[in-house]
Amino acid sequence: MRVEITAAPLPETGVLVVPVGREGALSSVAQALDARSGGLLRRALLAGGGPPKHGQLVELLLPAGLPHERLLLLALGKPEGTRRLDLEEAGGALAARLLASRIGRVHLASTAGLDLPETPAATALALATGCRLRAWRFTKYQHERPDEPQGRIEELVLHLEEEAAGVASAAWPAEAARIAGVLEARELVSEPANVLYPESFAQACKRLERFGVAVEILDRERLEALGMRALLAVAQGSVRPPFVVVMRWRGAERPKPLALVGKGVCFDTGGISIKPAQGMEEMKFDMAGAAAVVGTLHALAARKAPADVVGVVGLVENMPSGTAQRPGDVVRALSGKTIEVVNTDAEGRLVLADCCWYTQERFRPEAMIDLATLTGACIVALGHERAGLFASDDALAERLLAAGEATGELLWRLPLGKAYEQHIRSEIADLKNVGRAREAGATAGAVFVQQFTNGVPWAHLDIAGTAWTSRDLPLCAKGATGFGVRLLDRFVAVHHEAGGPGG
Ligand code: BES
Ligand code: MN
Ligand code: ZN
Repeated sequence: MRVEITAAPLPETGVLVVPVGREGALSSVAQALDARSGGLLRRALLAGGGPPKHGQLVELLLPAGLPHERLLLLALGKPEGTRRLDLEEAGGALAARLLASRIGRVHLASTAGLDLPETPAATALALATGCRLRAWRFTKYQHERPDEPQGRIEELVLHLEEEAAGVASAAWPAEAARIAGVLEARELVSEPANVLYPESFAQACKRLERFGVAVEILDRERLEALGMRALLAVAQGSVRPPFVVVMRWRGAERPKPLALVGKGVCFDTGGISIKPAQGMEEMKFDMAGAAAVVGTLHALAARKAPADVVGVVGLVENMPSGTAQRPGDVVRALSGKTIEVVNTDAEGRLVLADCCWYTQERFRPEAMIDLATLTGACIVALGHERAGLFASDDALAERLLAAGEATGELLWRLPLGKAYEQHIRSEIADLKNVGRAREAGATAGAVFVQQFTNGVPWAHLDIAGTAWTSRDLPLCAKGATGFGVRLLDRFVAVHHEAGGPGG
């Protein structure tokens, strides 16, 4: 979808999207169109049994007295206050309608004259952002179906007053960078595991170099030399070798970087503790944490964020085979701690154990945040509405929760603590990789990972329930969500950018 920003007047043909306010309030543009059409807009807004609510659309085909093909009146403004996210979601609703009606080119009118908390420029950008996020779909392996042609939004033209157009044009590239980061993560998550496996994922990371990200790929030999035996134990069942990729975006000199760590299990069969066949195909998404890390670095680098952020992803495939690890095996992790692998399906924490230890030791980060599709138990606890947040540090937790609220990538904090550490005590090793059956499963995974953070302020996002959606969401069609990218981009912008509130 091309987004164009212009100070040119609205065209006298085609499809116009005209924002209207609460209770059918008309913007300056809407008033002019209403006058030209003898009150058509006002009548249309009341025809539905009361004015449309935020995000609702009233569609007028061949509006009498106007030369346009269609007018889409898009209602904006919530009684309880309209946040930027609400505007993005209205943009998402617009995209859904355009796709359903197979409208490929639209001109969006300015909101000047409406009583909204955001300026016309910011409003237009939020609408465009939501529109682009909602319009994305993963179609590369699908031919067009003649019986159900898919819509495609080719172009969205934002019409603004002269000065606002300048402001919006200056701000759009950063917005587009964030969107690109989200879509990058979605692409990676959507790719099947025969296409996206550790090596091809590592190559995809390499593409970040075009934005100035330093990318270092650690291959199996290197991982062996380092002693990442927990990660290697997961990988040993697969013919596809593992990789750890270390990425760094240094958009500013800061004393310490922020570190992001991602679980990149390109496919999780469960290993010898094999998963049931039913639904196993979904486990191609088990690298969504790593994809979110890549997407975030993409966004930060593409918008040249004045921040220092390291991303580390552990890329493996969890397969059953004659070389696979066995339940009961004991491995020595990079940190030196020994782990009894009671269940080979609890593999993500083994990967994160070595990646987190490596990251804190090498970079001494100010804070470390890992993202992982770690536990089914987190879905049991929170459904698909929120990701689980675990944090060793209250301030870090608060900041992440707030970034989640602002971006709609919602989190809910779940507990850590000494009592739960008992759950992962092993009879024969320092730790075992599972807790107690049906007890605090998401926390068991989190406290396990925590053992490898060495006291660095750390947070863990269990995104098992939010990385994929089986229903259309306001900002995301069914499929991979790219969850985490917007949240982390926001978190970095607010707390880790030079000149930001974080210093
Ligand atoms: N990748 C899964 C977690 C998962 C399960 C995500 C279902 C989404 C849906 C993870 O590797 C896993 O298998 N976890 C086990 C842990 C258990 C063996 C302690 C789980 O959640 O069942
Ligand atoms: Mn697993
Ligand atoms: Zn997994």
